[in-house]
Amino acid sequence: MPRRYTLPDVEALDRADPLRGKRDLFALPAGVIYLDGNSLGALPRSVKDRIDSVVSTQWGEGLIRSWNTYDWIDLPARLGDRIARLIGAKPGEVVVTDSTSVNLYKVLSVALSHRRYCKTVLTEKGDFPTDAYITASVARQFGLEVKAVDAADIPAALTGEVGALVLTEVNYRTGARHDMASLTRRAQDAGAMVIWDLAHSAGAVPIDLDAVGADFAVGCGYKYLNGGPGAPAFVYVAARHHEGLRQPLSGWLGHIAPFSFADDYQPAPGIDAMRVGTPPILSMSALDAALDVFDDVDMTEAKAKADRLADIFITELAALAPELELITPADPARRGSQVSFRFPEAHAVVQALIARGVIGDFREPDIMRFGFAPLYLRHLDVWKATVVLGRIMQSRAWDDEAYRARAKVV
Ligand SMILES: Cc1ncc(COP(=O)(O)O)c(C=O)c1O
Repeated sequence: MPRRYTLPDVEALDRADPLRGKRDLFALPAGVIYLDGNSLGALPRSVKDRIDSVVSTQWGEGLIRSWNTYDWIDLPARLGDRIARLIGAKPGEVVVTDSTSVNLYKVLSVALSHRRYCKTVLTEKGDFPTDAYITASVARQFGLEVKAVDAADIPAALTGEVGALVLTEVNYRTGARHDMASLTRRAQDAGAMVIWDLAHSAGAVPIDLDAVGADFAVGCGYKYLNGGPGAPAFVYVAARHHEGLRQPLSGWLGHIAPFSFADDYQPAPGIDAMRVGTPPILSMSALDAALDVFDDVDMTEAKAKADRLADIFITELAALAPELELITPADPARRGSQVSFRFPEAHAVVQALIARGVIGDFREPDIMRFGFAPLYLRHLDVWKATVVLGRIMQSRAWDDEAYRARAKVV
């Protein structure tokens, strides 16, 4: 049994935390311990002022002139360059646009158009539904089959028949993390293109897309990047695929010269070819302000803190609530910044937790998930959350009619 954490232990960890100053950059509600930054990141304080100024000054006073005076038109590229630093890409390899689902559609189409002789698209069984649905749809358009296998079987399934491998780096249910470098190499050796969904990785774990030689990646702006509800997503295309880059959603803002209003589509050079329509400037401005909190953050240090937070959670709950089955890898190198447990009444437990100010979430059929966003969580918060969860489990407080109702969004 690993050594338990005491209150003085976690207070000492907070005092020694190199990221402790970051919490003040967030507007966190009093009395809440927020363990759901893997679903919707918390609100960075700078966002409100930025949105106020974009609304009243840029939009209200500048009106349409602001497309030029505030360079709204290139905001997707500027945001892309800021996210590039967090995912190991070069400036010009990432653009912020659309949703992760739409971006996946675009990059998978590009990837498959590079491959002439292939029969399947390989993916992981039980991956996030949008990945499965979009992959199936694009595969159908290319006349290919989708093969979904368990994580452990992916290397063996990478045969010459595979046109593309689509994988979420950190699994949304279990928090298990793939070995991006070795799977990318293995897939490319087999002749397949690789698409990484970084929804649960960007802003949570160190990623080095260029170093591992990734082909394409997509990810969300509203999770660990804290861009706000429905924040636009990002898409990465390795520089070596930029020449002749053409994706199927040929909208006017992906055109080489949108304001020439030409009759025929000609893609913009480089990553701008991934753009489609008019960028949502309010949401993009929120994401831009939110990214300030990452400016001087070393993602290796952030992951090291998330690992300590997760270790407190796992160690304490093993003692306080042994009936919860840990489904996240115990080895920090094999997981993201999330810890999940299985329990038959997981939904009711999460509701009971939320009623006591600890916010996590539930995923069908019996999984409770907890995200450890290292910029705004203290070791003390996580330790306190284990005390609350431990009490709920020991007293069976979850076994209450009030916690059975399912909301539309869980
Ligand atoms: C792995 C993964 N991919 C994609 C998405 C959703 O992407 P979007 O709603 O931006 O299309 C999610 C949402 O939770 C996700 O977990």
